[in-house]
Amino acid sequence: LATTEHQAEGASVSGGVVESNHAGYTGGGFVNYDNAPGSHVEFTVTAQAGPATLALRYANGTTTNRPMTISVNGTAQASGVAFAGTGAWSTWRTATANVTLAAGVNRVRVAATTAAGGPNLDRLDV
Ligand code: GCU
Ligand code: CA
Ligand code: CA
Repeated sequence: LATTEHQAEGASVSGGVVESNHAGYTGGGFVNYDNAPGSHVEFTVTAQAGPATLALRYANGTTTNRPMTISVNGTAQASGVAFAGTGAWSTWRTATANVTLAAGVNRVRVAATTAAGGPNLDRLDV
């Protein structure tokens, strides 16, 4: 099935900054989440109604998981999704979550849940 790429640096960011100082990102950079709970990136995803797998490409140069909660149109659908350490800030991996999307435009919010904030987020593939 074809996927659509949504760059984090092109999404709506609250509590984070777009950067490009760690290699290996796609597009123009990535979002460096503030180290705070609630910091988030919100993507606009146009879809057909039904189940979808969200693939989030990220880097976490620490050895500590930075869990995040994924909400769709204001409702949490995946809580505590793990964004485990990747070994370096320039090493990128993918975390996935299964959600249900509505027909048309969806607001997909990926929010940090701990004081450590989120990882560095490169992209969402749907
Ligand atoms: C470092 C790194 C950032 C990262 C931050 C963090 O400062 O350069 O890209 O976001 O650590 O721990 O969140
Ligand atoms: Ca950060
Ligand atoms: Ca990117």
